[in-house]
Amino acid sequence: MAPALLNYFGLGRSATRNEETTPVRALPASWYTSQEMYELERRAIFSRKWLLITHKLRLKEQGDFLRYDIARFDFVLTCDRSGNINAFHNICRHRAYPVVEANKGTAKIFACRYHGWSYGLNGKLAKAPGYQDLDGFDKSQNGLLPIHVHVDTNGFIWVNLDAKEEPEIAWEDDFDTVDKQERFSEFNFDDYEFDHNWEMDGGYNWKILADNFNECYHCKTTHPDVPSLANLESYDVNTKAGHIQHDAGTTSEQRAAGLRIASTYYFPNASMTVTPHFFFVQKFVPSGPTSSSMRYEVFRNKNSSEEDFQLINQMYKRIMSEDKVLCDLAQKNLNAGVFINGEMHPRMEKGPLYFQKVVRDTVTEHHKREKAAKQEIWPARQNLPNNALVSQEDVEFCTGLACSSNNDALVW
Ligand code: FES
Ligand SMILES: [Fe+2]
Repeated sequence: MAPALLNYFGLGRSATRNEETTPVRALPASWYTSQEMYELERRAIFSRKWLLITHKLRLKEQGDFLRYDIARFDFVLTCDRSGNINAFHNICRHRAYPVVEANKGTAKIFACRYHGWSYGLNGKLAKAPGYQDLDGFDKSQNGLLPIHVHVDTNGFIWVNLDAKEEPEIAWEDDFDTVDKQERFSEFNFDDYEFDHNWEMDGGYNWKILADNFNECYHCKTTHPDVPSLANLESYDVNTKAGHIQHDAGTTSEQRAAGLRIASTYYFPNASMTVTPHFFFVQKFVPSGPTSSSMRYEVFRNKNSSEEDFQLINQMYKRIMSEDKVLCDLAQKNLNAGVFINGEMHPRMEKGPLYFQKVVRDTVTEHHKREKAAKQEIWPARQNLPNNALVSQEDVEFCTGLACSSNNDALVW
């Protein structure tokens, strides 16, 4: 039989592999369970990629601050006297105590409880009691460790933890024009206000949540609400650079009921879904290889009735809670050491397959660089000044110990 004919019957796949019609192997279970992979992701992904955090509606007044932790990186966003949004690691430059202990609030200054050092809203060191008597202590070199901030066209706040002056990855590299999606023109983000946040903790890897969110193959069997929100027949995702745009194929009836939705997943771990009555920022926040939180910040349209707001708000709460159960139980089986992976549908599971490809590419590239450098590369790590010679030697001494002894004991 001619090869073309074999293909027609689906028998000649190995000759001309067509990705649209061939199932694809998922990432193996070990990627969802191993401590080493999690630590590599902290270096390769969470320390280098732009992370969507919140909307500036939450930081309106001078001194307003919000504290976040993502993959053990603890940081603070704040609005300074000039109205700029700043971000800092929540680490005192003296001896590493967290300068901010509340999750949110309004401050004039950030004062560390341990020994009383204090910092301005721009992160500059204001006072270090007793240090004024010392020679060679440079206050300007002891501000809070800064984090890069980007505020997009619609007012969403992003951070990048790369400690370099310029992060290696520009926001535009992953998200160019994603804030100018045609469908956003139907919404005015200034019409919304912060309403509440909520979260669910679970025993799953953060990637299993991303896999779940980025396909609607499971919607029919899991979410009785989804047919009111989306057209399952035409549901599709568009993947590009660091984003996955979900096209819910909204019908005219859904549109009339105020259930028009525009949902976008932003690699690695966030999404934003906007509807006429509310929008929410969702984050899948890892706290370990097999533990994560699903965190939600919900904003309400000021002009929407309580009824309209609650219809969609409650619907999404049900949907996310149903997803939590799926992820919890699937992860349990991944942890048991039997299952490695299965074959995914190239069209219906295009979103998670794209997500997994970006994860694979990002961690393997970083790992290659580490192998070439013969050491782990921690892009978010503090850069020591040139005059910190003793410290440099101390760091290298310890690195040498780790290389020549038991690597399993490496805990960063
Ligand atoms: S650790 Fe903050 S003042 Fe000492
Ligand atoms: Fe779901």
